[in-house]
Amino acid sequence: MRKLLECKNNTFFVTGGAGFIGSEVTKQISNSGGNVIVYDNFSSGKKTYLKNIPNVKIINGDLKNKSLLSKSMKNCQYVINLAAYPFIPDSYHYPQEFFDVNTNGSLNVILEAKNQKKIKNFVHISTSEVYGTSKINPMNEDHPTLPHSTYAVSKLAADRAIFTIHKEHDFPAVIIRPFNSYGPKITQPYIIPEIILQFLQGNKILKLGNIESSRDFTFVSDTARGIITSLFVDKAIGETINLGSGKTYKIKDIVNIASSILNTKVSIKMDKKRIRPFDVNLLICDNKKAQKLLSWKPEVSFREGLEQTIMWAKENPINFKNAFDGFVSKSNGKKKKRTVKQYESNKAQTNFRRN
Ligand SMILES: NC(=O)c1ccc[n+]([C@@H]2O[C@H](COP(=O)([O-])OP(=O)(O)OC[C@H]3O[C@@H](n4cnc5c(N)ncnc54)[C@H](O)[C@@H]3O)[C@@H](O)[C@H]2O)c1
Repeated sequence: MRKLLECKNNTFFVTGGAGFIGSEVTKQISNSGGNVIVYDNFSSGKKTYLKNIPNVKIINGDLKNKSLLSKSMKNCQYVINLAAYPFIPDSYHYPQEFFDVNTNGSLNVILEAKNQKKIKNFVHISTSEVYGTSKINPMNEDHPTLPHSTYAVSKLAADRAIFTIHKEHDFPAVIIRPFNSYGPKITQPYIIPEIILQFLQGNKILKLGNIESSRDFTFVSDTARGIITSLFVDKAIGETINLGSGKTYKIKDIVNIASSILNTKVSIKMDKKRIRPFDVNLLICDNKKAQKLLSWKPEVSFREGLEQTIMWAKENPINFKNAFDGFVSKSNGKKKKRTVKQYESNKAQTNFRRN
C-alpha cells in the first residue's frame, strides 16, 4: 500500500483504462493522489466505469494511432499498457486483429513512450496464458512458454518485443503476468461472469464447457495494486513478474461456491459448443517473485471476491449473447463472418457471451 502513495502528483498514461482491470487501476491511482490519462477505444471498456473518479482525462483513441498516442502521453511520467483484445475464443475468429492490437499495438505504445524521453517507467500487462497448461506446479516465471491460443501467442510476442526494446534502448519496462482476474465492472464473458449470469438468469441447469479445468483467480483490486506497485520498484525493471494467488479452483468448484453464496442449488450440463479447442487444463501461480520484489500478496479471498462480484452483477445486469454465434452472423442460412467493426460495436453493448 505504501508504494501507491508514490502516485501522488504524477501522471499515468493508462491504455485500456476504461476496461475491467484498467478502470480499477485508474481508480486506485486516483485514490492515491495521481492523475490518469485513460487512452481507450471503448471496444469493450466503458466510460461509466470511470464515473466519479477524479483527476482522470479520457481520450478516445486506438493503439494503432501512433500520432495520437504520442500527443496524448506528453507530460506523463508513467505508462501502463493494458489495452488488448483479451478474450481467447475471439482470437480463433480474428487472429490477425489480435496481432494488430495485442502485438503491434503494444509495440506502438512502447515506441511512442520511448520517444518521449521523459517516461520514468513502463509496465506492460502480459498474461499467464503465455505459459500454456502447467508442466511444473506451481508455475514461476521460468516456466516454458507454450501458448495454446492465438491470443496467448499475440501476447507473448508483445512481451518479447517490450523486453527487447527495454534492453536495446535502455528504456525502463516491467512485464506483469496476471493469472485470471475477476471482480466487478465486467467487460468480457470470462468464466466467472458467465457462471454468475446463468445463476442470475434463474437457470437451474448451468450450461458450461470444460468444468474440470483449473485456474488461479485473483480479485481485480489485488491485480491492479500489483500492477501499479511494479512501477515504483527499481529492481522490477527488466523483470517479468507473475501475479496470482497460488490457489486453483476447478470451474465446477466455482459453481459450488456461487451456489452457496446465492443459496441456490443447480446442476451442470456440459455444452460441447463451449469446449475450447486446445484448452489449457491447469494454471497455478508461483507468486514468490511478486512477494519478494513487490511485497505483493493477494488480500481478498476467493469467496469474498466472488460475493462482491455477484453483488455488483445483481445491481448491474449483464446481458451476453451466445458467444460463438456472436462472432458469426447468420445470413441466408449461411454463416457469415462479422467485420471487426460489427464485432466491436457488438462488444461495446456488452452484448456477447461465452465462457
Ligand atoms: N482479465 C483477466 O483475467 C486477465 C488476465 C491476464 C491478463 N489480462 C490482460 O489484462 C489486460 C486487460 O484485460 P481486461 O480483462 O481488463 O479486458 P478489457 O476488455 O476489459 O480491457 C481491455 C481494454 O482495452 C481497450 N482496447 C481494446 N483494443 C483497443 C485498441 N485497439 N485501442 C485502445 N484501446 C483498446 C478496451 O476498450 C478495454 O477498455 C489485457 O491486456 C489482458 O490481456 C487480463
